[in-house]
Formats: sequence, structure tokens, C-alpha cells
Amino acid sequence: MATTVGQPVDPNVVRKFHFTREMIEGPVYRKYEKALRKMWSVEDLDFTQDARDWKRINDEQKRGLLGVTVRFLAGEQNVTDELVPMLAASHALNRFDWTVYLSTFLMEEAKHAEFFMRWHDRVVGVLEPEEVAQHFLVRGKTIDPSGRFEVRDVLHEALPYYGRRLMEATMGGTEAEIERAFVAFSAAYNAFVEGVLTMPSYEIVIDTTNGWNAFPVLRQGFRLILMDEGRHITFGTYACRLLIEKDPSYEDEVHRVFNAYRGNIVGLVEYQKAVPGLDLNKYQTMKVRHYRNRCREMRITPDETLIEQILDPSIDFVVGVEAG
Ligand SMILES: [Fe+2]
Ligand SMILES: [Fe+2]
Repeated sequence: MATTVGQPVDPNVVRKFHFTREMIEGPVYRKYEKALRKMWSVEDLDFTQDARDWKRINDEQKRGLLGVTVRFLAGEQNVTDELVPMLAASHALNRFDWTVYLSTFLMEEAKHAEFFMRWHDRVVGVLEPEEVAQHFLVRGKTIDPSGRFEVRDVLHEALPYYGRRLMEATMGGTEAEIERAFVAFSAAYNAFVEGVLTMPSYEIVIDTTNGWNAFPVLRQGFRLILMDEGRHITFGTYACRLLIEKDPSYEDEVHRVFNAYRGNIVGLVEYQKAVPGLDLNKYQTMKVRHYRNRCREMRITPDETLIEQILDPSIDFVVGVEAG
């Protein structure tokens, strides 16, 4: 039966619908639309030239490159697996546009993992966990010789830790507790890991393969992944900005995360030293630029001491990065 305009509407029925004009005009919903427009598929990539290049490079180059790519292979699988708390929290906070956008985010992380799975399968001929694990360089504990910094495992420690906190807040906490835990998780996942720590790693692979004039599809995959990552990062920093505007005390959560993993960010990226001929300063400067951008996007004050330490040439210990 048709409803006449102006008739009182049952609020319980209204609650079944989430779209609003304001939402679909908003930046998060537009990211969802853009993600669909920019969709790409691993199946469309042809790995033949990369497989040929793999056969012609020497053993040292193979070791160096595989050291980077298997870390991405592990990292992308891990970030795919750690995103659920953010989806659950978006639901609890009644942010339907966040949930809608995150559906593309999760799919893209799965696709990034798929890209590296296919690349290793078709180019190197390894796929099973036992095969790829052989190429994962396990170092002893990374030590800063000055003893000032500790290097911790961001992917296997920070993301599960902040994820569990967010999940617990989502299941039983107040709205403010969920928001605070959301800012901490997003600071770790989107701002720290995606937004600063791994950024130079993409660039290093692009620079290295350009320098060797090889692996066009690996480079193309990195470019496609970076396009997706740009949306992931700016979704997280925008969400943090909204929440921090609501309660400025949430800003402390961001600084606490960056502080807890300070050593990982001031150290040099492992492959900066593994691949000869790279301009080391370039990647540290890049981290600073990204850090400043993330702070600007969140509308928070950057920690200038952290910036000085990233740029300090006397701090040159090496950190292994698993990118996501
Ligand atoms: Fe991502
Ligand atoms: Fe990713």
C-alpha cells in the first residue's frame, strides 16, 4: 500500500536505512566509488617478461630482490587478516559509509596478497609456505648500537594488539572507548604502517627494477598497489581527524603509537643497504615527508624530535620492513 507524504514514519523502520544525501556526497563514500572505478585485476597482468628477467639476473640480485618481495608477500597477507576490527568498529559507530568503503579496502588488501602470490608462483616458481619461507631473511634481534632505540615487530605485534583493543571496545565499550581505540588502531595501521613505514619500500623496488631495466610487471603491480594504498591511508587519517575533532584528547593515541614504534621508523629500511647504488638519504627524507603529510591530514602537531631522529645521519641501524 502506498504511503502518503507527511504521514508519521515508524523510527524502527527508518533505522533500517542508512544512506543519506550528505553521506553519498561525503569524502569516504566517494572513496568507495573511486575504488570501484579504479578496479584492476591480477588476472590481467602478464608475467612472461618478469619470468624471463628472473632467469637472467645473477644470484646476488635474486637474493636481494626476493628478500624484499617475500616480505611484501607476508605483509599483504597479514594486513588483510588484521582489518576486521575496523569493520566491526565502523558498524558499532553507525558509520555506514566507513563500512561501505572498507569493503573495497579489504578486497584490495586480499588482491595485493594475490598479486605477490602470483608473482612468486609465475616468476620464481615458489608458492607453498615452506617454499617462500626459505627466502624470508630471519635476522636476530635488530639492535641500535647506541642503545637508544628498540626495533619491534609492527605487523605481528602492533596490529594484533591495537586490533584486539579495538575489538574489545567494540564489543563492550562506550562510544568514546571505541573511538579512542579506533584512533589508536588506525594510527598504527593506516598512518604508521601504510602511511610512513612502507612508503620508501615501494619506491626502492621501483628504483631498483628501473636501475636493472627489468621486471616491468612487478613495477606495474607496485604502482597499482600504491594507488590503492593512497585511499587506505587517507581514509584512516580522515577518520582520525573526524574523531580527534570530536575529542582532541584522542591525538595522544596517535603520538603514543608512533612513540612505541619509534625505532622502526628512525632506522634505515633494510634494502636501502642491501641494494647497492641507492641514494640512502632519499628514503629517510621521504619518510619525513610522509609523516608530515599524515599529521597534516589528521590535523595534529608533528613530533619534531622524531623528524630530527629520522634525518640524523648518525642513526643508521637497519630495520626489516614487511609492507602492507
Ligand atoms: Fe593498504
Ligand atoms: Fe596493501
